Amino acid sequence: MHLFPAVVLTTTLVSSCTAGVLNTFCRGAHRPGVNVKTIRAHQRLYHVNAAWRQNFERGSRRPFKSRAEQTPPKSKYSHASKSSVMSTNIKLKNVNNSMHYGTISIGTPGQEFNVIFDIGSSLMWIPSSHHEPNNEEIHRQYNSDSSSTYRKNFKPFTISYNSGVVSGYFGQDRVTVAGLTVEKQMFGEAVTFDDMFEDTSIDGIVGLGFRNKSRSKKNNLLDNMVSQGLLQAPVFSLYLKRLGTDGGRESHLTLGGANPHFFRGDFIFTDLTEPDKWRFKIDRIEMLNGAYILWVSEGEVEVRSNFAMIEGPYAEVHLINKKLGATLMDVPGMYSVYEFNCSEVDSLPDVDFFIDYGKILSLSSKDYVVKEQTFGKTICYSAFLGRKRVTKDGENYWRLGQAFLRSFYTYFDKDNHRIGFAKAKH
Ligand SMILES: *[C@@H]1O[C@H](CO)[C@@H](O)[C@H](O)[C@H]1NC(C)=O
Ligand SMILES: *[C@@H]1O[C@H](CO)[C@@H](O)[C@H](O)[C@H]1NC(C)=O
Ligand SMILES: *[C@@H]1O[C@H](CO)[C@@H](O)[C@H](O)[C@H]1NC(C)=O
Repeated sequence: MHLFPAVVLTTTLVSSCTAGVLNTFCRGAHRPGVNVKTIRAHQRLYHVNAAWRQNFERGSRRPFKSRAEQTPPKSKYSHASKSSVMSTNIKLKNVNNSMHYGTISIGTPGQEFNVIFDIGSSLMWIPSSHHEPNNEEIHRQYNSDSSSTYRKNFKPFTISYNSGVVSGYFGQDRVTVAGLTVEKQMFGEAVTFDDMFEDTSIDGIVGLGFRNKSRSKKNNLLDNMVSQGLLQAPVFSLYLKRLGTDGGRESHLTLGGANPHFFRGDFIFTDLTEPDKWRFKIDRIEMLNGAYILWVSEGEVEVRSNFAMIEGPYAEVHLINKKLGATLMDVPGMYSVYEFNCSEVDSLPDVDFFIDYGKILSLSSKDYVVKEQTFGKTICYSAFLGRKRVTKDGENYWRLGQAFLRSFYTYFDKDNHRIGFAKAKH
């Protein structure tokens, strides 16, 4: 028997590849403009005293462009302001604290499916009733024969995720999501697919991410909704309910804007650093008002909505966990896992991520401590997981999963190529 958090095991799921091309294992493009060398030179967690800190604040800051130079004027982003919200909400259900799905309807009359909304891919697929016999009939299947609005396409499709491959052929039909009906939505009818979902109540995936520009808008639900006038802009926001809380707001996906019901204060926006990923720069990670500073090696983080924890390079994660007082557990697998003393977690500090030249995202210990019951005993895991090996592409970036996203209502803005965070109301 080994103690390994179920949360970690059940969440290596969904990809971040936008392309449905086989064998593209989510290789990242080069990121122009990131001075990796400069950042690496500072890769250490400093313990600084007050005097040193003052010095740091005054002297050794990297020369940043002013905010005005960096960000286009506010008016460009009218749909992000609270007053002009034109949006619709989909309630998400939580499976094992790691996956979230919502219900959509396809065809006429409507056939219902539970889907994961994936921010990292752009296509949509569901199991076909014409699936191959070796795929167990455990998920609901779309039957095109019984839909009067179905249109044949028959072009083949293949999508690779980190956790499996799905293939079949394209079809077109009417799709209804949260009261909005999109006509002629193109989606994959999956004939063969690896069983990626432990939970049989989840049927397929709807990609909300960046579309391969060579593909039609009909391929992407959000883009299709915008071109059919159902939404003003290809944006969506994600609210995740805090773990271990009863009552209150449920997890929701908002399409077309942001819903003030889920956040307080203003959004902090930052531009994305890659054309097709929710990846952006961070300057550093701090604790205790700057008493501890970690210059992260690559200076980039990527948001992953279908990853439960927060993943970073081993050495950096180790320093953070050590400073937080967590201890390394003896656990096999791809991640180093840390444990807190449960009776001490209430006094843990926020962990502050610095983005967009000085703006702070404060991650609450309520979110980075993940409690689990194992054999009647509560274990308090740290959400900060250390990647033991370098990624396939040799990159060192961080992945911010649900443990991060619960602290923030997150605004994904495809048109303006930026991401925004506001304090989530819990
Ligand atoms: C939830 O996690 C537990 C422990 O890993 C597992 O036994 C169970 O099958 C999971 N349930 C679902 C619905 O995935
Ligand atoms: C986009 O799609 C085209 C054609 O399917 C493909 O050749 C190309 O590699 C794709 N681009 C990306 C970035 O996936
Ligand atoms: C956990 O913390 C409490 C209070 O600080 C302490 O009494 C207890 O010994 C600690 N437990 C372990 C296993 O370190």
